[in-house]
Amino acid sequence: MNPFLFFIREDRMNRASISIHTVCFTLFTALLTFLSTSVRCEQVLLGDPALTAGVPGSGPISVPQIETWLDDEHNFSELTPVLPLGLSQGSSQITGLDENPLTRAKIELGRQLYFDPRLSVDSTVSCASCHDPSMGYTAQTKTGIGIKGQAGGRNSPVSFNRILSDKQFWDGRAGSLEEQAIGPIANPIEMGFTHEGVVKRLASMPVYAKQFEKIFGSVTIDAVGKAIAAFERVLVTAPSPYDYNEQWRAFKDLEPEDLEDDPELAELYAEAAAGIKSHPMSDSAKRGREIFFTEKGNCTACHVGANLADEKYHNIGVGMDQENPDVGRHAVTNDVVDTGAFKTPTVRNVALTAPYMHNGSMATLEEVVEWYDKGGHSSKHLSSKIRPLKLSDQEQTDLVEFMKACTSPTPPVETSRLPADA
Ligand code: HEC
Ligand code: HEC
Repeated sequence: MNPFLFFIREDRMNRASISIHTVCFTLFTALLTFLSTSVRCEQVLLGDPALTAGVPGSGPISVPQIETWLDDEHNFSELTPVLPLGLSQGSSQITGLDENPLTRAKIELGRQLYFDPRLSVDSTVSCASCHDPSMGYTAQTKTGIGIKGQAGGRNSPVSFNRILSDKQFWDGRAGSLEEQAIGPIANPIEMGFTHEGVVKRLASMPVYAKQFEKIFGSVTIDAVGKAIAAFERVLVTAPSPYDYNEQWRAFKDLEPEDLEDDPELAELYAEAAAGIKSHPMSDSAKRGREIFFTEKGNCTACHVGANLADEKYHNIGVGMDQENPDVGRHAVTNDVVDTGAFKTPTVRNVALTAPYMHNGSMATLEEVVEWYDKGGHSSKHLSSKIRPLKLSDQEQTDLVEFMKACTSPTPPVETSRLPADA
């Protein structure tokens, strides 16, 4: 029975007591709101290592260990993610949590699936084979290398900061992270399995079966996608020297007297000052920032927002000199202006993710900057935002230094603790 009906009925019976009941009602509602937010909507700062530390213990995860884990209600409270400094300005970009709420249990299941080669037909390739945390969540190959050493057609993009990204793949053909996550499993040159096959295999392993049962009701391919997406959503970049520098820019013109009567502001000021002290940005990188953010480099025409990526598609000419170029976004929209257009990748941690571009055709950031400097490769559908920049050698170096200053750690992640076979 709805607890509020009790008061309403009571009110009908005794109108004189209406005001006191109104007070009760308000207090009761406040109590319920408090309880529901504290139970269901626990806030977590993304990057918290506890989220990705794995089920406690060592070696393959056993049935008793997973039972203890699943019995802990704490692992099922709904989490409200809080983004770290730098990414936090992108909070409004977060999608998918209503359809797929975050819980520790789901994130942990996703972690296991992400690192488990048993999701591929011959148990040799996992998501991490091409999106390896020790390689900036990419692979150092030109294109993705799947089962039996087969090479795919495109470079592996990063799988972090996906919480700020809506459509996935270089051409945006997957509408969500959940939809993306199940693609590689059935891709013949990536993991080479079938969705039915993977569901059957996971259901045959009791540690997986128990988790899917408790979290989703049963093992389904949709549930696989949801768990992996939940794990990916907590993989975020910590604040980089660039972010500390941005934070400081907001304070740098304050005078000591501005802080005198405002202890809260003084605290923020001290925090910002400590940030740039422990994560300094070189003068070259600071000059590079000016080029990146102004007309001079025009990079923020596309690499913009919290993740330095506009989530849009542009033809910057890469690969367009080939005989049969990859048409990119055109294959999804059939719109001729999308020919050769690809999704803007993030510049965060880009120093860790060579080679570059959708086809892995550039080996260094210097090469990338040179490309932009000469105005890309002229092609029919080249973006109007691409033009020769005429930067000096020093300015090109500064741009590279700025991108290097966008480097920061991702959370430590347990990579080897996976469910026992039986
Ligand atoms: C054989 C290498 C390989 C494997 C295995 C692989 N990926 Fe990928 N991944 C790629 C490549 C290449 C792309 C880009 C493909 C495209 O855009 O057409 C990609 C794209 C993505 C994207 C989109 C990123 C963006 O910016 O749009 C995500 C997320 C991702 N993969 C996660 C995963 C997950 C999760 C798994 C495991 C279920 C996985 N990948 C397995 C190579 C791989
Ligand atoms: C018109 C939009 C646009 C502008 C302007 C732009 N970029 Fe890009 N950037 C992209 C797109 C789209 C890609 C991927 C292109 C591809 O793979 O075909 C990309 C790729 C990159 C990459 C490779 C990242 C990776 O993971 O492979 C770097 C680095 C980069 N841009 C830096 C810059 C810098 C520095 C500037 C300014 C000088 C700049 N970009 C200007 C849209 C843009």
